[in-house]
Amino acid sequence: MNNASQAHSSSVDPRDVPKRILSDGSAMPAIGLGTFGSDHVTPAQVANAVLGAAAAGYRHFDCASVYGNEAEIGASFQAILQGGIRRDQLWITSKLWNDKHREDDVVSSCRKSLADLRLDYLDLYLVHWPFPNFHPPGCDVTSRSAGAVPYIHESYMRTWRKMEGLVDLGLVRHIGTSNMTIPKLKLVLRDARIKPAVNEMELHPHFQQPELFNYVVANGIQPIGYCPIGSPGRPERDRTPDDTAPTEDPVIVEIARRRSVHPAFICIQWAVTRGQTPIPFSVNPHNYLANLQAAAAEPLTADEMRQIAAIDRNCRLIKGQVFLWKDGQTWEDLWDVAGEITPP
Ligand SMILES: NC(=O)c1ccc[n+]([C@@H]2O[C@H](COP(=O)([O-])OP(=O)(O)OC[C@H]3O[C@@H](n4cnc5c(N)ncnc54)[C@H](OP(=O)(O)O)[C@@H]3O)[C@@H](O)[C@H]2O)c1
Repeated sequence: MNNASQAHSSSVDPRDVPKRILSDGSAMPAIGLGTFGSDHVTPAQVANAVLGAAAAGYRHFDCASVYGNEAEIGASFQAILQGGIRRDQLWITSKLWNDKHREDDVVSSCRKSLADLRLDYLDLYLVHWPFPNFHPPGCDVTSRSAGAVPYIHESYMRTWRKMEGLVDLGLVRHIGTSNMTIPKLKLVLRDARIKPAVNEMELHPHFQQPELFNYVVANGIQPIGYCPIGSPGRPERDRTPDDTAPTEDPVIVEIARRRSVHPAFICIQWAVTRGQTPIPFSVNPHNYLANLQAAAAEPLTADEMRQIAAIDRNCRLIKGQVFLWKDGQTWEDLWDVAGEITPP
């Protein structure tokens, strides 16, 4: 039972990968390659994986300025385009980092990502987190940015107006949110001129977020799911003793055993069957090919989907502690768990 045994061919025809249709009718491939090399994979390794993944049939790439590798990935995009894949066959996302929420910074930050990625436009640009709080790379969990603040809707909307302006300028085709909650999204949907096309959120069999998932779908927002395999390579600061691994869950392991695939394959099949767009990270050619094959495979059965729905453990892996804004808080305060925006 390993991924290599599934890899009967070295690529997947991109036409066999399901598409998500956004509210304006655009089609987004229902799986993308994640590019956050965490603290242990070099930019060159990720850029090399982008090249290999495009050859394997990936057409969707999830980038961000804070991942520190857009310039290297840009060289890969240039090679991919020179190799004959048209720009309109690719779906490329980038994200506005937390220290660039100020109105004056949004356009220049987007232009910087475009220059690094060697592109004229992005298919999707996300506000990475709803807080302007940031942290130095590789910091530990207790680190806080000076002047950290809670979610302030008026500030977020000032940033969002600039995001809308990027669409008007033709620099980005779609804009979206990331790491949002229902109470925050309600306000954004009330006040936005251009509504978020997607919401990027943590989604895997042990963290299914059914309420938020159903809310975004009901509002015509596509859910993109990060950490679809349970992020086994995530930084130390994002680990706690209570965390669980979906790839070790007996239900996932048993379905994988019956189908003679790796449990990661089932995590991806579950995500695509459910209707979200997983963005698994990998620099291993066997693994990223297997993930693409999982996305293009037959959906899981209704019975398998019922079994997996029952193993949700509400186990958030990316807790975001470094974005808290005052002493004495817990990471739950970032996620509005009481159903309203956590008071300042
Ligand atoms: N919006 C946000 O705030 C946010 C937050 C976190 C992540 N993200 C995005 O989501 C992407 C994915 O999240 P993630 O990287 O944390 O977690 P993930 O995709 O769940 O896990 C990636 C890990 O799984 C391993 N893996 C991948 N495919 C595998 C397979 N078929 N079999 C066995 N192992 C496999 C990879 O190792 P190998 O390299 O050895 O295959 C890597 O260590 C990120 O890269 C980033 O683009 C966004």
